[in-house]
Amino acid sequence: MIQAPKGTFDVLGKDAMARDGLVAVARRVLEGAGYERIETPIFEATDLFARGVGESTDVVQKEMYSFDDGGGRSLTLRPEGTAPVCRAYLEAGMHKRPQPVKLWYCGQFFRNERPQAGRFRQFWQIGVEAIGSEDPAVDAECILLLAEVLESMNCQGVRLRLSSLGTPATRTAYRDELQAHLRAHEDALSEEVRGRIDLNPLRAFDSDHPGTQAVMATAPRLLDALDDADREHFEAVRAMLDAAGQAYEIDDTLVRGLDYYTRTVFEFASDSLGAQSGVGGGGRYDGLMELIGGAPTPGVGWAAGVERILLSANPPPTAAPPVDLYVAYDGPDHRVRAFALSADARRTGHSARLELGGRSLKGQLKQAAKSGARYVAVVSDEGVLLRDAESGDQRIVEPNQVMHHIRQGQL
Ligand code: HAM
Repeated sequence: MIQAPKGTFDVLGKDAMARDGLVAVARRVLEGAGYERIETPIFEATDLFARGVGESTDVVQKEMYSFDDGGGRSLTLRPEGTAPVCRAYLEAGMHKRPQPVKLWYCGQFFRNERPQAGRFRQFWQIGVEAIGSEDPAVDAECILLLAEVLESMNCQGVRLRLSSLGTPATRTAYRDELQAHLRAHEDALSEEVRGRIDLNPLRAFDSDHPGTQAVMATAPRLLDALDDADREHFEAVRAMLDAAGQAYEIDDTLVRGLDYYTRTVFEFASDSLGAQSGVGGGGRYDGLMELIGGAPTPGVGWAAGVERILLSANPPPTAAPPVDLYVAYDGPDHRVRAFALSADARRTGHSARLELGGRSLKGQLKQAAKSGARYVAVVSDEGVLLRDAESGDQRIVEPNQVMHHIRQGQL
């Protein structure tokens, strides 16, 4: 048997309904706050991610599914949504609209990571991007929206970590300082961290290697190096989160896996998940638009992993859509009439279900009860027996009057 590729999965039955429930919650929260739905292609020019996400990131270095399209162009299955949404903003000339342009998305993303609990190679994200404003209120609002989605889904044990990375200039100066610290303690570092001192020293904060962790405990902190404007911006974000009663921890070791961040960064983690505890995260990316060829335009946003939210959630039970009419029939002779009746019902805007698996009448009536159908019609030699499942009333009706009775709501 041919199996699904590692790190991918099928979504069946109740799981599919739970996902729909999450998307409905996200739509209510995000569209309620003025975010408009956007869909971008599943594949993009590889260069968009190489430039946007950053050559030194794990995502670009080893996790992208890239392929030659046969015409010498390198394309990549999108590993994330921010660079594509910024590209769409530029291509559609959205800078002409009132700013910020607030967009949300939901779709599949692809990363060639080692699969484990909560980590897949094809996964879903729900995300938002608010583009065109530097206002710290936009940062705070989008953080609150993710908090609301997670709360509405009853996600367990969720904590918010918050930090600021400042501007690229601050970070360059800080990087030099951090590199000097790492070099001074090189012997105690893991091989991986040692190999990345030049390329990405900040990732050392992420290491679970004990020696590296000890070195990082005394490392200089970026938050202490912010310039005045960045510090004020960060304080304004915090003041707004405080005013809204949103709990958070300042975590000056918070590093995100993507290079485009400036100023605010944040992550929601759930302690009900294992090692892959990040349910959603994001931040500000004021330099990204320029990296992909646009005019300088600030932006902020987040993405949350649909599978991880569902793993940590107690999702509100999603009710099966109601069935107005279940059409049963007594033997194959009546099947075509039953078929026509169910088609009639659907044509008039009612939901109708019909047995197609060859069950006996008794079996069909069991299915009807299970489906919770409001009305059950039994097509037999005697005509059509219509039963109101709620009141238990039933009588023989003319086949062409079935819909009339259902519409009237009485027998
Ligand atoms: P990210 O932190 O790389 O950010 O991914 C966001 C979320 O997607 C993670 O917190 C996690 O829940 C989920 N996720 C990531 N990789 C996987 C995986 N392999 N399997 C399952 N879930 C996964 C971004 O993607 C940024 N674009 C977020 C952003 C938007 N920043 C600004 N705007």
